[in-house]
Amino acid sequence: MDEAKWKKRLEQYPAIADLEARARRRIPHVAWEYLAMGTGDDRALARNREKLADITFLPRLLREPLEPDMRTTLLGQTFNAPFGVAPVGLTGLMWPRAEQILAQTAVKYHIPYCLSTVATQTPETIGPLAGDVGWFQLYPPRETAVRTDLLRRAWDSGFKTMLVTADVPGPSRRERASRAGMRMPPRITPSLIWQGMQRPAWSMATLREGLPSLKTMEKYAQSGETAELASFVRQKIGGTLSWDYLREVRDQWPGRLLLKGLLHPADAEEAVAVGVDGIVVSNHGARQFDGAPAAIEALPAIVAQVRGRTHILFDSGVRSGLDIMRALALGAEFVLMGRPFMFGVAAFGDDGGDHAAEILLADLKTNMIQCGFATLADIRLA
Ligand SMILES: Cc1cc2nc3c(=O)[nH]c(=O)nc-3n(C[C@H](O)[C@H](O)[C@H](O)COP(=O)(O)O)c2cc1C
Repeated sequence: MDEAKWKKRLEQYPAIADLEARARRRIPHVAWEYLAMGTGDDRALARNREKLADITFLPRLLREPLEPDMRTTLLGQTFNAPFGVAPVGLTGLMWPRAEQILAQTAVKYHIPYCLSTVATQTPETIGPLAGDVGWFQLYPPRETAVRTDLLRRAWDSGFKTMLVTADVPGPSRRERASRAGMRMPPRITPSLIWQGMQRPAWSMATLREGLPSLKTMEKYAQSGETAELASFVRQKIGGTLSWDYLREVRDQWPGRLLLKGLLHPADAEEAVAVGVDGIVVSNHGARQFDGAPAAIEALPAIVAQVRGRTHILFDSGVRSGLDIMRALALGAEFVLMGRPFMFGVAAFGDDGGDHAAEILLADLKTNMIQCGFATLADIRLA
């Protein structure tokens, strides 16, 4: 796309909320519900947003004209900004080849991209595209042989940072997806055809690519099991994680290890004892437990507990540069986002990841200037 057109599009869709609204119009209802939903009454979903929005700053003024430096170093790597793309499963349901698109965005902006165990592309496909900004997310397999194989595949594909997800002790009820007729794996049903007819861009892209499947896990299904891949995956990877298990992964994985989904300071303490390189304070974007606090409410106590002994990342509910600044002010070193990048891809396909990154960078920079922050280390509430 030429420069003028790109600029115009960024002006027309200046916020993640604009990408969200467009995404909703472009993808079938079932895909939208799967992407947007929380669980239960979606109270934790609202809480994530409200509690972030409540955080304010006391700006310092009369400083030199500022050109904020947004670069940061995490786990020995310097990134251009303190944010990255969180792992999202069943990615291709929202938009075919979303993983390729987001890996390319991550490389272009030099921010991390995390591929999910239950993504719709394999580590072998995405690893080489993501290069040194690729992270791999592990839903811990029950069988040691499967775990060993997955870790080896990730490492051999170039992923050097592993993010183990802690906050799925069992499946959540996901009522909205259920109401929308979600089937796993996605099947061509009359309802999907009807929904697809109203979403031609998605349908064309999906026809080219085929219906999404959990490609990374397919290898471990016996022939004939593929149709039941979802329950197969649940049975292989559900509710497996314990501190002993995590210790085994720590021993097995030669790279950097992050534990994602903690809310309780005591769990953060255990994670430090296991020797993880970092933890992600998160409530899984409010998709698992509607009784959870907003993730941002849980952050300060974990920061106080950890006292710098491991790195602290944050996700759940972040929708702007200002929200990123809020999480950093409360002690996170780095922020991940799931839906915002997916909204971008669903809204604009190939350019959508870049569009989301541009919004977040511009918004972070603008808000740092409003408060007189020259570097990320300067960020504080008052
Ligand atoms: C559609 C969708 C699928 C997700 N799949 C995974 C997954 O496979 N593994 C994982 O660890 N987290 C998964 N998450 C959670 C995200 O990694 C992240 O924690 C969450 O999206 C953060 O909240 P946000 O969407 O408000 O940024 C998923 C989130 C969404 C929205």
